[in-house]
Amino acid sequence: MSGAAPWRRWRRVAPLPPGPRWPALVQTLVWVLAPVEFGRFCLRRYGPLFTARIVGYGPVVHVCAPDTVRRVLRTEADRFDAAGANEAVRFVVGGHSLLLSSGAAHAARRKVLMGPLHGANVTHYVALMESIVAREVRGWRVGTTVRLLDSCQRITLEVMMRAVFGITDSARLARLRVLVPRLLDINPLVILVPAARRHFRGHGPWARLLALIAEVDAIIHAELAERRAVPHDGPDVVSVLLAGGEPVTDAELRDHLVTLLAVGQETTATQLAWLFERVLRCPDALRAVTSAAHRGDRQVLDAAINEAVRSRPSTMDVGRIALEPWEAGGYRVPAGTLFAVSLGLLHRSPATYPDPERYDLGRCPEPGPDFLPFGAGSHRCLGASLAMAEMRTVVAAVLRSARLEPDRPAAEWARPKGPMLLPHRGAAARVLANHLLDGGG
Ligand code: HEM
Repeated sequence: MSGAAPWRRWRRVAPLPPGPRWPALVQTLVWVLAPVEFGRFCLRRYGPLFTARIVGYGPVVHVCAPDTVRRVLRTEADRFDAAGANEAVRFVVGGHSLLLSSGAAHAARRKVLMGPLHGANVTHYVALMESIVAREVRGWRVGTTVRLLDSCQRITLEVMMRAVFGITDSARLARLRVLVPRLLDINPLVILVPAARRHFRGHGPWARLLALIAEVDAIIHAELAERRAVPHDGPDVVSVLLAGGEPVTDAELRDHLVTLLAVGQETTATQLAWLFERVLRCPDALRAVTSAAHRGDRQVLDAAINEAVRSRPSTMDVGRIALEPWEAGGYRVPAGTLFAVSLGLLHRSPATYPDPERYDLGRCPEPGPDFLPFGAGSHRCLGASLAMAEMRTVVAAVLRSARLEPDRPAAEWARPKGPMLLPHRGAAARVLANHLLDGGG
C-alpha cells in the first residue's frame, strides 16, 4: 500500500477494464453468434481482463488469466455470488438447485450429492455404460454417415436416467427420451429475456415449456413415490439419497435430478462429440487412442480427453456477480457487475499453449492453474469423476467396436446453441467397419 492520499489512489484506478467500443447491440450479436472468435479477438486486443457490453446484462467483465481466475473462483470466492449469475434458469432447475444455492445451504446440498457422484462410486456405472454404448453402435451400418453428437446425446441421456437416477421403468424411460431433449433445447430467448416468459391463454413457447416441465416433474415424482415405497439397493443418486441419514424431500430431490440433467448431460455429450471430431482428424492421435482403448491405457485416454476439452470446450465461461467492488490490473469493478470467468480463453492462452487451436495429444494438459476443465473452488463440477469415467468408457468402447473416419476432411466449427458450443455438423463420421455387426469388416 502506498502512502498516497485516498483521493489520489482513487484517481489511479479506472472503473472497468477496456473492451470493444462497438454499440452494445453489435457486441451482443457477435458474442452470441461467435463467442470463441469474440473472446479471442478481445484477448488479443485488450489482454486477459476485458469488458464486453451485452444487452440485458450491461458490462460483463471477462477474466481469463490464471491469477485472476484463481482469485474469483477460489481465494476471493466469498466476494462473488455464483447463484445470482444462474438466476435465469430458476424456472427449470428449481430453488433447491445447487446452481441457485450459496453459503451454508450450498455446502450442505453439495455434501449430500457428493456421495453418489464420488469417484469410487462411479466405477459401479461402467458396465452399464458399456452396454449402452454397444446398443448405440449396433445401429451404425457400415458405409453410412452417423452424427456422433446425436449418438453421444442418446448415450449420455441413457447413462443419466438409468445409471445416475437408477430408473428402470420402461414407460418412464421411453417418455423421458422424448421429453428431456426438448427440455434441454429451450429457446435461449426465454432464458435471456424475461419478457419472453408470457403465455397467451395457454399458448405460445412459454406455455409449451411450462407444460413440458410439468410433465417431466410428474414422471420424476411418480418415480420417487415408487422408490420410497419399494427402495432399490443401488449406487444411483436416488437410492443413495433416499437411504442416506439426511431426510430429503421430493421437491429437493426433483431439483437435484433436473440440475444434474441440465448441467451434466449435454456438456458430456458435446465434449465427447468434440473428442471424436478431433481425434478422427489426427491420424497419429487416432492410432494412439485406439491402441489405448484396446489396452485399457487410462493415461492416454485421459490425455486425449483433456486435450479435446482444452481446445474445444463445450462452454466458454462460468458466471459470477461481484458482491463488492473488486480491484485487479489497476481497475476497480463496481459491486453488482457480472463476471464471465472464461475457462475457454484460459485454456487458449498462447503463452501456455502455443498454437492453441491445434489438437496435440502430446500436450497432456493436467488440471492446475492453467487448466481447469471442471472449474475450481466451492462450485467445482460435482460430476467431474462421473464425466471423466463416462468419456473414457464411451470413447474406448466406440473405438474398440467400430472404425470411423470424418465424412469431410475440414474441421467442424463451433456452433453456439444457448451456452453450448456444438460441432456444427454434429461430428459427422463415416462408418468403415462395425465389429459388433456380422460381416462388419
Ligand atoms: C465434460 C463434462 C463436464 C464439464 C466440462 C463440466 C464443467 C463444469 C464446470 C466448469 C462447473 C463449474 C461451474 C461454476 O463454477 O459455476 C460445473 C459445475 C457443475 N457440474 Fe459439471 N461438467 C461436466 C459434467 C458434469 C456431469 C456429468 C455432472 C453430473 C452428473 C455435472 C454436475 C455439475 C454440478 C451439479 C455443478 C454445480 C456445482 C456447484 O455449483 O456446486 N457436471 N461443471
